[in-house]
Amino acid sequence: SYVITVGCVDVKDRSCVEECPVDCIYEGSRSLYIHPDECVDCGACEPVCPQEAIYFDGELPEEWEAFVRVGREVFAEIGSPGGARRREGVLEDHPHVAALPAGPG
Ligand code: F3S
Ligand code: F3S
Repeated sequence: SYVITVGCVDVKDRSCVEECPVDCIYEGSRSLYIHPDECVDCGACEPVCPQEAIYFDGELPEEWEAFVRVGREVFAEIGSPGGARRREGVLEDHPHVAALPAGPG
C-alpha cells in the first residue's frame, strides 16, 4: 500500500484526502495516515502531496521505513472502519510521530 511519511507531520495539507477514491486516509493530531488494508494502491494521492510525503511501500527510502510499521500500528485499536468519513474525531498519533520535533518534517 501507500504510506505517509515525516513530511506530513505538522503540515497536513490534505490534498491527498481529496484524491483518494476509497477514503482511506485518516487524520491524526499531527499527521495523516493511510489505512494499509483499505488502500487500493491506485497511486492518486502520491503526486498531489506538496511535501512529497507519500510513497509506495515498495519504494520507500530506507530512512522512512519505520513509517510502514507506524501506518499499520496506528490502526491497531480501531481496525478497519471502511472509510475515514465513517469515523468521528482524529486518531491518536502513533508514538513515533508524537515524539518527532515540532514543525514540518
Ligand atoms: Fe499530508 Fe501531504 Fe496529505 S502533507 S495530508 S500527506 S497531501
Ligand atoms: Fe487512497 Fe489510492 Fe492513495 S487508495 S491512499 S489514493 S494510493
